[in-house]
Amino acid sequence: MSDKAILEYQGKKYEFPVTEGTEGELGINIKTLRSEAGMITLDRGYKNTGSCESAITFLDGEKGILRYRGYAIEDLAEKADFLEVAYLLIFGELPNKEQLDKFSADIRDESEVDEEMKKILDGFPKSAHPMGVLSSLTSALIAFNPSSVNVDSEEEMYKAIVKILGKFPVLVAWTLRKKNSLPLNYGDDSLGYVENLHKMMFEKPGKKYNVDQSVIDALDKLLILHADHEQNCSASTVRMVGSSHAGLFASISAGISALWGPLHGGANQAVIEMLEGIKQDGGDTHKFMQKAKDKEDPFRLMGFGHRVYKNFDPRAKIIKKSADEVLGGLGIEDPVLDIAKGLEKEALEDDYFVQRKLYPNVDFYSGIIYRALGIPVEMFTVMFALGRLPGWIAQWREMRLKKEPIGRPRQIYVGANLRDFKVVGER
Ligand code: CMC
Repeated sequence: MSDKAILEYQGKKYEFPVTEGTEGELGINIKTLRSEAGMITLDRGYKNTGSCESAITFLDGEKGILRYRGYAIEDLAEKADFLEVAYLLIFGELPNKEQLDKFSADIRDESEVDEEMKKILDGFPKSAHPMGVLSSLTSALIAFNPSSVNVDSEEEMYKAIVKILGKFPVLVAWTLRKKNSLPLNYGDDSLGYVENLHKMMFEKPGKKYNVDQSVIDALDKLLILHADHEQNCSASTVRMVGSSHAGLFASISAGISALWGPLHGGANQAVIEMLEGIKQDGGDTHKFMQKAKDKEDPFRLMGFGHRVYKNFDPRAKIIKKSADEVLGGLGIEDPVLDIAKGLEKEALEDDYFVQRKLYPNVDFYSGIIYRALGIPVEMFTVMFALGRLPGWIAQWREMRLKKEPIGRPRQIYVGANLRDFKVVGER
């Protein structure tokens, strides 16, 4: 196979090297395009643009494959726990027992959040969206942990990583507790990462905390499935912000904002709101299928379609099974779930959806599980953010260790040409 790509423009030929990834993906390296041919590439939404070479996550949208550091998502969701997966994503290898124990202990040691942070949280109205609150609190953490990370020091890098992993669940829990007017609390060192998070979120004053193990297992699985997804909108944001050498906390805070949008992580909330809306409207799924296909109607079937998965979303397959288990195990019957099943069936048989390869994505089912676990709708995307935290850290760390240049795309200017300036009275 040729290792060069040739571009011909106005009778001149330009050669560019082709980079091949370990799974056979090919990329034309156009680094010299502008200097040699005076052109740039134009690719709205970066649909065909590779922004980096990365060894963290591999996905094949056509075949429905997702792997973290070479391990199949199906194996990880079945056999690993969230902290093991976090370690794998960030440091590249699964931890042995000693490494995992140390990692957990170091994270626990960093789980205190400065009391002053409570004042910041207090300043938000109860109606504030938890994602906005979480992004602000994460950004505010910088003030209480001001040292910028020396990326050449493995020790400093490690410290920053366990700090954010330790403090983030506290911020997540506080965000919910503020919303529910519950006193702000701290975790319990004797519990695992996910159970501790659950306890911090739901423990009520004066009441004994109890949780079914199946709830913790389902939550753990959901967090693993969301832990990374290569160069998506929020991971690219984290890399972009970090590429200016802004710190880890600032980069993560930006990632949270990117995730909030309904076309990205906010879809899990949008799915439940859509299903509730259909229920209140009388439950006619066919009517909403028609709306989704009508180009004059802005309505989209939330939880369907994906930028890269064009056959099925492997995460959706795992989570669908998990949704059935959790709902069955907890004996939950939910009319919204029946509407979801109806929509899914119709969409999978509908020409519009089949031709455009629009299948249920991970967020079609995750919202249903979160709801069954008693997590309020507005917190769904916050749960996604917690799951995605290791991925963001891994992407940021890889980018900084590789000494990537600052991210700065170009554009094709299509605005006005030079115009004469007229003072205000003459316009
Ligand atoms: N409902 C109806 N039509 C759709 C949908 C949908 N959910 N998604 C895509 N289409 C149509 C779209 O109108 C377009 O039609 P046409 O070719 O006739 O113009 C075609 O399918 C291609 O869509 P696109 O918007 O160009 O595709 P994209 O790759 O830019 O967008 C997407 C991917 C996920 C933003 C989009 O499918 C969508 O908006 N889905 C709903 C939101 C959602 O569920 N997002 C969660 C993604 S999974 C979580 C995550 O990883 O962040």
